Order: sequence, then structure tokens, then C-alpha cells
Amino acid sequence: MTGTVPTPVAELRTALEILDALLTVRIEERRGGPSGRPLSLDDDDGEGLPSVDRFTGSGPLATLIHSTGLTPAEALTVLAALAPAIDERFAVRYGELTDRPGAVGLTGEIARTLVARSFRGRLDATLMLAPSGRLRSSGLVDLDPPDDLSGTLRTPAALTAWLLGLPPEPPVATAAFPAHPLATVHSLDDVILPAAARRRVDALAGRIAHRSTVVADWGFAAHHDNASGLIALFHGPPGTGKTMTAAALAAHAGLPAYIVDLSALVSKYIGETEKALARVFDRAAREGSILVFDEADAVFGARTEIADAHDRYANQEVSYLLGRIEAHPGIAILTTNLLANIDTAFQRRIHVMIEFPEPGAGERERLWTAVAPPELPVDPAIDHAELARRYRLTGAQIRDATLDAAYLAAADGRVVTTGHLVAGIHRQYEKSARTVPQ
Ligand SMILES: Nc1ncnc2c1ncn2[C@@H]1O[C@H](COP(=O)(O)OP(=O)(O)OP(=O)(O)O)[C@@H](O)[C@H]1O
Ligand SMILES: [Mg+2]
Repeated sequence: MTGTVPTPVAELRTALEILDALLTVRIEERRGGPSGRPLSLDDDDGEGLPSVDRFTGSGPLATLIHSTGLTPAEALTVLAALAPAIDERFAVRYGELTDRPGAVGLTGEIARTLVARSFRGRLDATLMLAPSGRLRSSGLVDLDPPDDLSGTLRTPAALTAWLLGLPPEPPVATAAFPAHPLATVHSLDDVILPAAARRRVDALAGRIAHRSTVVADWGFAAHHDNASGLIALFHGPPGTGKTMTAAALAAHAGLPAYIVDLSALVSKYIGETEKALARVFDRAAREGSILVFDEADAVFGARTEIADAHDRYANQEVSYLLGRIEAHPGIAILTTNLLANIDTAFQRRIHVMIEFPEPGAGERERLWTAVAPPELPVDPAIDHAELARRYRLTGAQIRDATLDAAYLAAADGRVVTTGHLVAGIHRQYEKSARTVPQ
């Protein structure tokens, strides 16, 4: 699983040829033609379905099928739902598998006829297409309307684009997909840290870069359970660069990153949250993206005493989330201000822990220069070393003070002076209800 998008063309061509052959057989079977004629493809499982390795090459379809372990029936349903997006003639041919007038494209019923010929097979296919089945609960296919198998089955737009090899559409955080992309203009070089933290961040970047060599090429995947999973925890006071570093690590590795919205975990709709989280984890596993859990202590802290039914459900979601994180084949980065609040049992599952301390005077001096864009007009008389020595601020506070100073300077129509910066600094102290050192 890397950031590079595998080419889907050859793979999709083969897969659609196989789908086409299966359709021909099913249409003949329906017309009472040479009935029972086995599909001239190997590995007939009794339903006349080809095995999944018949239509997996090295493209996104293969990644999807293998990362989620889809059965032939599931994989063919996804493929059939995708096919009209590539070739609308499939939609017409599907019509030959139903007597229902006005059926458009692939319906749930047609998909069932496509993947099953025996009674037992149809029963299994009915369960496969149920809302709780993996295909729908993981968001691999949507049924519209959702409670009617005569409704239309489609692959969701983001998955369709991804299977076709297009760059993924950034998801919008919703109740159904509680995560949003974490983008950044920062590189790892922009992160200013004391030496020990810096070394750990660089080591983590190396570990991410060499994952596929060690895990896949050197055989760890075959020798250990979930060898590709990597859980990191960044802990330290607010504003010390934890989220920034997570984003910069993803950019450095060329991987997408998502911030998971943990407030969804207190959703009162039991079960919905698990489905929504499943979509996030499945998508991340597929794309190889990094999942970031901010304020992890809220969820990975010692499980609360059960006070009422609502808490119990929240705890159930937390157990689910812990299980998914541990089993996740990709990278997860957790951040917290309160290491002590992270459950010790869970701490043992963490592979890499990095402390982000408050910056010392040396780091603060570098921060003062680093947060100012090169275009910012500044008074050359500003003494950054003196500001750093005098004011104990975090990176986020130094950035905010500089931004305030820039607005004051813009209103004055002049360059940023020490006076503007000190005014900005005072604002930071006021916000954190601390007194300004004299
Ligand atoms: N160590 C740092 N090096 C460079 N810039 C920093 C650093 N720490 C903070 N900043 C600046 O402050 C901004 C906010 O920091 P960030 O959100 O990463 O802090 P955080 O540790 O995640 O805080 P919180 O615990 O409140 O989530 C960054 O985008 C960056 O501009
Ligand atoms: Mg943060």
C-alpha cells in the first residue's frame, strides 16, 4: 500500500470482459437456453462465478478486493455496479435479467440474479445486499431507495473515481463519513522541535517511508499479524506542533491524511457510528492514507464508569474503535495534551510515542523567524533572541502573535515593529489568562 495510484486500465478491461461473459451466461440461463451450462471459467463455486483472481490485476480493483477480502459474489456486485460508469451498454444488458418494467441499470434484484443461480445462492445474495451486509455498511455500494431491492445499486462517487484511477475526491466530514482531509502547506523542515523530539519525528518519517520494503518485501506481513499497522502517539501541551507534524509527515510520504471526528462517537444512533467509522477505516486502508485522531484522550482514556445507557453505547463504540485501530493495516496518529489520561492497556499498543515539549528559548527564537512569511515587511531592529528569552510562548502562540502584529502593521500602513509584536504577544497572554512578564 503506497501513495502511488496503480494503473487501472488493463485490470478493468479484463474484469469487464469477465462480467460480460457472466452476463451472457445468465441471460441464456434465463431464456431457458442451454441451461446449467457452466460458465467457461475456472473455479466454479456452484453459482457459476469466476474466482476473484480471474479479475484482479495490480490496479485499484485488486487493492479493494484484497484489502477487504471480498468474496466472488461481493466483488462481482461491486464490479457490476461500477460497469455502467465506464460503459452504459452494461445498463441495457442488465435489463435482460429482469421482467420488471422500468428497471434502470443494476438493481439489487438484478445483482442477485447475476451472482446466484441456486436457491441457496439467492438467499446468500439477499443477505449480502442487506443494509448490514459488508457491501453496504462499508459504503462499497449504495442502494437507492435503500429499503428496496428493486432500487438502483451504484458504487459511491468517491469509490468510482478511485477505481477508475482518478485522484480521490476529498471527502466532506458527515455523519456517514466522520473524517475530513488534513492538508498542509508545511513540510517537515518547517516543524521546529528540540533535538530529541526532532530525532523521533525523523525516525517515524523513515519508518513510514520504508514500510512497504520491510513489511511486504522482507516478509514481515507473512510472519506476523498486522505487521503493516503503525500506531503513533504525539503528546504534549496545546500548540506545540502535534497536528502540524502529523500533516507534514503525510505530505512528506505523499499520502493523504484524514482527521477523524471523534465527537461522532457520542452519536446516539447505536450502530450508525460503527458503520461510519468502518467507512473511514476501509477507505484509509484502500488509499493507504494516514488517520489522525486529535484529542485522543477523550476516547482512549480509561473507560468511564457506566452511568447511563448513553454512556454504555459510547463505551461500546470506543471498544469498536480500539479494535479497529489495532487491526488497521495502515498508519494511525493519535494526539493528546494529556498522556496520563491515556489508558495504560492501550499505551502498550502504541508503536511510536513522541513527546512535543514546550519550546525552549532556542526553539522560540527559531520559531519567531520561521512563522513570519518571507514577504512580511519587518523592522530589521526586531531582536528575536530577546523576544524568545522574555516570553515563554508555544509555536501556535508565536504564530498567532505574529499574525496579530501583521494586522496591526497593515492598519498602520507600516512595517511590523517590535511594538506590534509585543501587542500581539499581550493578546496571547490575555487569551491564556496568564500575566505578561515585565
Ligand atoms: N513546533 C512547531 N514548529 C513550527 N510551527 C509550530 C510548532 N508548533 C506550533 N506551530 C505553529 O502553530 C500552529 C498550530 O500548531 P498545532 O495545531 O500543530 O499544535 P498542536 O500541538 O496540535 O495543538 P493542540 O494540542 O491544541 O491540538 C501550526 O500550524 C504552526 O503554524
Ligand atoms: Mg492539534
